[in-house]
Amino acid sequence: MEKINVGILGCGIVGTGVAKLLMEKEKLLESRIGTVINLKNIADIDTEKDRGIKFKKGVMISDAFKIISDPDIDIIVELIGGNKIAKDLTIQALENGKHVVTANKALLASFGNELVKTARQNQVDLAFEASCGGCMPVVKTLRESLVGNCIKSITGIFNGTCNYILTKMSNEKCPFHDALQQAQEKGFAEADPTLDIEGFDSAHKLAILTSLAYGMEINLDDIHVEGITRISPMDIEFAKEFGYTIKLLAISKNNSDNIEAHVHPAMIPFSNPLSHVNNSMNAVIIDGDATGQTMLYGYGAGMMPTASAVVSDIADIARNLIKGTKRRVPILGCPESNIRTIPIQPVKKIHTCYYFRFTAADQPGVLSKISGILGDFGISIKTVHQKGKRSNGYVPIVMITHMAKEEHALNALKGIASLETIMDDPIVIRIEE
Ligand code: HSE
Repeated sequence: MEKINVGILGCGIVGTGVAKLLMEKEKLLESRIGTVINLKNIADIDTEKDRGIKFKKGVMISDAFKIISDPDIDIIVELIGGNKIAKDLTIQALENGKHVVTANKALLASFGNELVKTARQNQVDLAFEASCGGCMPVVKTLRESLVGNCIKSITGIFNGTCNYILTKMSNEKCPFHDALQQAQEKGFAEADPTLDIEGFDSAHKLAILTSLAYGMEINLDDIHVEGITRISPMDIEFAKEFGYTIKLLAISKNNSDNIEAHVHPAMIPFSNPLSHVNNSMNAVIIDGDATGQTMLYGYGAGMMPTASAVVSDIADIARNLIKGTKRRVPILGCPESNIRTIPIQPVKKIHTCYYFRFTAADQPGVLSKISGILGDFGISIKTVHQKGKRSNGYVPIVMITHMAKEEHALNALKGIASLETIMDDPIVIRIEE
């Protein structure tokens, strides 16, 4: 093949990065792929904006629909984001027989099953390396490199904004909102930062990876999600004293007959390499039965790291086309007929260790009442400290528990919160050993 034509939908940060990479590295890519990857068109509503890149005449256009129906374009790259117009364009592109590359985690997490089905019906590829963990090759790792493994678990830091905020709060005692503002200024927060700080962006990525890891369909609503907005500098400092770092983790575990999938802040010991993943960096530990733990680390967002992942998908599809093949690697890692439905375990059934912080009246008998209620629910305390300063007669009491069932922990906390000597809702953070 003399060349393979690519059309990009959306010329925002990532779209600009992909265009730059394709244009500036045309020769390098040609030498590696064996043909020219030609950026035929890129569509954006704003065709005038200076993006620091000089397109040949006619390359930048405003009509995305023209690109997806161009018979000369083989590969469509969807970089619009969101799940409105991006969904319509992606579906139509697949129906028009185009192979599609997307970085759109929200779209895949909510409508992945429909997209995979449409790709199958039209015998085209759907690739999404850039949707999870930016430049970290986590999709390819799960789908191809670890094909000989049963995946036991995935534990990841997939949101650069939250990781940046928690790092700033921990290292510089920076207030939450200042750190969030900095993350927005640096350009890695979502347009709606609630998606980041409430954990939904991480849940989107976890849904995609869980589906790949275990060859299953997943309903996004089955993933338990908590964000980082209740994490205070006080908890970060107490965590350090106990030897832990607080990170927003996305976790999925294979319990054979069910799958756990949850996103929440968690305390991890300093000995866990994830505790040293700082600022906006992403990382993931994949535990395979043959490999043991494999860790990937890299930029989870940003123009060129994300563009690198998009271009790797373009290269995969192009290499297939050159060899006269397509859909060589199944979209979800196994043929669609083998995709299973595995139940997601409700989070109240999981077992873990906990950090609790109570704001309690500083008077005799309070601690014994708290430990009595925990004992009633079979929760064993590992460490307890009365920490920090007394304020209006109340002090923080922090506890680390041994392994307990979540529903027992929640019921015990309900009982403790109803004590007259307890002010405010207790703070609960799970501990991932
Ligand atoms: N908002 C995301 C983050 C960008 O902060 O990691 C990459 O998906």
